[in-house]
Amino acid sequence: MKVKKICCIGAGYVGGPTMSVIAQKCPDITVTIVDINEQRIAAWNDSDLSKLPVYEPGLAGVVAEARGRNLFFSTDVDTAIADADMVFISVNTPTKTYGKGKGMAADLKFIELCARQIAAASKSDKIIVEKSTLPVRTAEALKSILHNTGSGVNFHILSNPEFLAEGTAIEDLHDPDRVLIGGENAEAVQALVDVYASWVPRERILTTNLWSSELSKLTANAFLAQRVSSINAISELCERTGANVDEVARAIGTDSRIGSKFLKASVGFGGSCFQKDILNLVYIARSYGLQEVAHYWEQVITMNDHQKHRFADNIVQTMYNTVSGKKISFLGWAFKKDTNDTRESAAIYVADALLSEEASIVVYDPKVTAEQVYADLDYLGTRTPAENRRLVSVVGDPYDAAERAHAIAVLTEWDEFKTYDWHRIKDHMMKPAFVFDGRKLLSGSKLDELGFQYYAIGE
Ligand code: UDX
Ligand code: ADP
Repeated sequence: MKVKKICCIGAGYVGGPTMSVIAQKCPDITVTIVDINEQRIAAWNDSDLSKLPVYEPGLAGVVAEARGRNLFFSTDVDTAIADADMVFISVNTPTKTYGKGKGMAADLKFIELCARQIAAASKSDKIIVEKSTLPVRTAEALKSILHNTGSGVNFHILSNPEFLAEGTAIEDLHDPDRVLIGGENAEAVQALVDVYASWVPRERILTTNLWSSELSKLTANAFLAQRVSSINAISELCERTGANVDEVARAIGTDSRIGSKFLKASVGFGGSCFQKDILNLVYIARSYGLQEVAHYWEQVITMNDHQKHRFADNIVQTMYNTVSGKKISFLGWAFKKDTNDTRESAAIYVADALLSEEASIVVYDPKVTAEQVYADLDYLGTRTPAENRRLVSVVGDPYDAAERAHAIAVLTEWDEFKTYDWHRIKDHMMKPAFVFDGRKLLSGSKLDELGFQYYAIGE
């Protein structure tokens, strides 16, 4: 089996960058990315590359190289499926907001719709690749839908979980630690191995059975999130004992058995994967009656929720136990730097807690739109959209955000925040000028010298 045409369903944070890099590295393969969201496809096709719907360093260059050559973006889902020999499913799989497993299990309705659409549109045999983050055994469900169409078309199902991290997606795709492919049909697995082998050294392409591949994805994210929650738990202890969490992280990270990555204490992890994947793990463990396993992993999320609340509580307590009517400026809204993605961002929950204390909030983020900030707050449902717009404003200039602010809270670790004229910022603020650094980004000694009241996590 030699793949000549790839279709990817879903032009989001995973599908967009991943398929762009496959097209860049495999000029002989035609890659068509389809989505039902017309606005999103139009943005991917925009001649102005700053309008791409996903902000990711290096992505615009890759799209510029391949788009129109062998990379296409379209809303014609059926035609792209019918033409392809390999179909990637890269649609969103949010946590269920209704019914059984509400708040825990993955909502697979988009996946099922995709499977039914693939079944209906296919006239020739195809390899189906699950790329979305899915709970274990989703491949089974896909198989069942696809194999019961009665159309006589054969489908081989592969699991190829995504390990790219947003903000470094292009780097991660160009030079991955490993590519993981799970599947039962050796020829189908080989066909996908051959695609990646165009640029990834063969020894870094791992093949496993379907379930190991699916479970590995959840496990990798659970381990990473656990490291963040572990160091965040220690950060609270540091604040009480006089230890410094950065010093502790350095001291333990130099132990080669522990390693130095993912030990940065923060206001809490966010992103579309960590919480969702752990919830999937917890749900599946519970569904097999493994209560201790479920409880063990659930604590990672409990700790993360605690860290976000603790950050908001500390702001209120430090500001004389009231933020009512005070203006608090948020630097950053994205869940991490170098992305415009805000899913599960700690900023949303910190804002919600402060708004409940009647603070007014001004947000500045280099890449997140006002529309997105309001959509995130509206989605919580704590307040009406009108109230959110009255209490929260979004500005395009960080110095405007600081104007008459009682406090600044750093929620995302954008590099540009370090380069600001902090002297000028202080002049514009109410006094005492508080800074709450949820990312340990700024120089505490410099801000102290300038006369700020500076508080950082874990110090
Ligand atoms: C993650 C996985 O890293 C990736 O392999 C998987 O494919 C998808 O999920 P992503 O969510 O894009 O990627 O970002 P990641 O870099 O893992 O960060 C997740 C969250 O943890 C962010 O909010 C980040 O700020 C936070 N974090 C990370 C910390 O607070 N401290 C750290 O030391 C590392
Ligand atoms: P991820 O981070 O997993 O890439 P996103 O939400 O960024 O998630 O992207 C998923 C995309 O999948 C969205 O743009 C959504 O419109 C698209 N999508 C969902 N269901 C379908 C479907 N049945 N057909 C085509 N596109 C779909």
